[in-house]
Amino acid sequence: MSTQREPIAVIGTGYVGLVTAAGFAELGSEVWCVDIDPGKVERLNRGEIPIYEPGLAECAERNRGRLHFSTDLAPALEHARLLFVAVGTPPTYSGDADLSSVNAVVDAMPASDRHALVMKSTVPVGTGASIRRIFAKQGKSGFAYVSCPEFLKEGSALQDFLEPDRVVVGDEGDWAGDAVVELYDPLGSALVRTDIASAEMIKLAANAFLATKISFINEIANVCEETGADVLEVARGMGLDQRIGTHFLKPGIGFGGSCFPKDVSALKQLAGNSGYHFQLLTSVIEVNELQKRRVVSKLQKHLGSLVGKKVALLGLAFKANTDDMREASSLVLAARLQADGAQVRAYDPVAEVEARRLLRGVEFADSALGALDGADACVLVTEWPEFRELDWDAVAERMAGRTVIDGRNFLDPETVAAAGFAYEGIGR
Ligand SMILES: NC(=O)c1ccc[n+]([C@@H]2O[C@H](COP(=O)([O-])OP(=O)(O)OC[C@H]3O[C@@H](n4cnc5c(N)ncnc54)[C@H](O)[C@@H]3O)[C@@H](O)[C@H]2O)c1
Repeated sequence: MSTQREPIAVIGTGYVGLVTAAGFAELGSEVWCVDIDPGKVERLNRGEIPIYEPGLAECAERNRGRLHFSTDLAPALEHARLLFVAVGTPPTYSGDADLSSVNAVVDAMPASDRHALVMKSTVPVGTGASIRRIFAKQGKSGFAYVSCPEFLKEGSALQDFLEPDRVVVGDEGDWAGDAVVELYDPLGSALVRTDIASAEMIKLAANAFLATKISFINEIANVCEETGADVLEVARGMGLDQRIGTHFLKPGIGFGGSCFPKDVSALKQLAGNSGYHFQLLTSVIEVNELQKRRVVSKLQKHLGSLVGKKVALLGLAFKANTDDMREASSLVLAARLQADGAQVRAYDPVAEVEARRLLRGVEFADSALGALDGADACVLVTEWPEFRELDWDAVAERMAGRTVIDGRNFLDPETVAAAGFAYEGIGR
């Protein structure tokens, strides 16, 4: 790899920041990372990666000499012109994005004609324009600005970084946009170079569309349950139509995670703030909320009242291959089950630490079989590969009841039924 690659800075070393840093280091850049969390920076400097993301620890280790971590902005500003911003933009109570971390970064920038902020954080349309206005007011008009939204998926984030479907660069046609395009050039992916507002909208629209696809197939699944069709056959038959495509047509217990719920709500809110009622997204959100709760009625159908019933949850993370618990469907499901009087015992291979913090009154087991011990019902919540390997005859010996709800259509219904269980998936 060339040693001539442009050094960069990454502000915010969470899921996006760390993957961006490790990915650009892999491509040969020196990367100067900044985070306000001193504990995180200390761990990173010891060579520890504080999140679970396949391949990330190995990539960071391979490139350790090129990765620098600090709580101090000064070395980043000294060594890099391009400052990639990857701080959180969580939802506020109103559904708008909370831009306080982004604003803190903007305020911390010095006046400069040499630097550019490259926004990876997902922000409302108009944020770039408003940051330019703030820069102007603060006497920092020379600071360039590029919108470069991130499309990685947790669980395959590094691979997504290195093999993106496309790179979107929104800028004003200046040196900073050119420099960002050049940085991504070795990846050889499709490039969408556009204006800043359009780049911001591409990110929000893409996530809203994917969320719509999920809510759509979940509603089809619910109708399949009423009509005797099998949603997996339906999704396959639909998805092979190239105009539709097979991705994101997987029915389940609703979407969660740090992006879809907040980005859909942020786009709905953004539209509302501009005087437009985005009716479709209102429904997408509502369908998703109802979907998380449908498992409870499925359990009631098999167990009657849930008072005193022991329910085992297999998996808690919002999806497999991540430890991210943000907006996980398991949070709503566990709370609903507890509200109906059930005792909840759970197991997740990597998300337990965060799950313990978020889930009060839930008992944690250190294996799937441990969670299933004495349970009246099993609910598969997260599609961790190890759950496919379960020996259902052994499970039958451990469980008190015979109900298995497969919230991801992940298990083989015949194998589960052969062990004497009543199996129920979603939409079949
Ligand atoms: N996680 C994803 O899958 C994903 C995918 C695409 C886009 N995004 C977007 O990327 C952004 C970051 O998401 P994330 O999941 O990586 O968040 P995260 O919460 O994992 O990480 C954010 C990091 O920023 C740090 N931080 C906060 N304020 C700071 C400041 N002023 N200076 C320096 N560091 C600061 C925090 O300490 C934290 O380490 C969000 O806008 C999100 O919507 C996330």
